[in-house]
Amino acid sequence: MAEPRIDISADPDALAGKVAQWIVDRARAGQGRFALALSGGSTPRRLYQLLAAEPLRERMPWPRVHLFWSDERCVPRDSADSNYRMAHEAMIAHVPIPPENVHAIPVAASPAAAAQDYERALKAYYGSEALDPARPLFDINLLGMGPDGHTASLFPGKPALDARDRWAVEVPEPGLNPFVPRVTLSYPALDSARAVAFLVAGADKAASLRRVLDGEQALPAARVAPVGELIWFVDRAAMSAV
Ligand code: 6PG
Repeated sequence: MAEPRIDISADPDALAGKVAQWIVDRARAGQGRFALALSGGSTPRRLYQLLAAEPLRERMPWPRVHLFWSDERCVPRDSADSNYRMAHEAMIAHVPIPPENVHAIPVAASPAAAAQDYERALKAYYGSEALDPARPLFDINLLGMGPDGHTASLFPGKPALDARDRWAVEVPEPGLNPFVPRVTLSYPALDSARAVAFLVAGADKAASLRRVLDGEQALPAARVAPVGELIWFVDRAAMSAV
């Protein structure tokens, strides 16, 4: 893997603007399907809103964009804790993306069944049961990081960290609020990306960010090793301990 790139913005608004523009540029540079995995949490909300507003809304090639999620909380779609709901309200409801291109993580079944259903959907989209490093699953995989160093729903010390033969796995007991079961992409699926972009803002992430950038493997975010590029889009407050 190449050295990660660190891109520092002045504040969360500047960070969202920069990443939104970067996503649109990457999408326009390619042809054919553009697979974007969205992260949950609150940090990307502003980014999603910018993608759904002019001038970027018109520039994004929505008909060939496919949306996935890196993780989901097992709650109804209309719950305030739903990652799908956040992205839908901030972006999906306002853009001309074909509904069949929105690959939400299923929530109706049990967490284990939801993970299996999602893995099946990912494999159907990819067209193979095996990930080929020369043909990444995602064009961009957006990730966040919690203050404990978790990413997606890969929490420190949990069994999901070791799922090497699965693309999506259930997380019955997440280590942080909201304490609901979740479904998360495994490392092999997270890493199958032309670019992984972490979005990290705020001083409460500063101590973990320093440890992750130091390569401390106990923090799940430090173990993300994409087949493509790794970019840390951060704001100054998040970098204050580095
Ligand atoms: C989730 C996430 C999670 C999130 C981080 C950062 O569903 O909770 O996908 O990994 O990205 O916890 O969240 P914030 O942006 O809210 O700090």
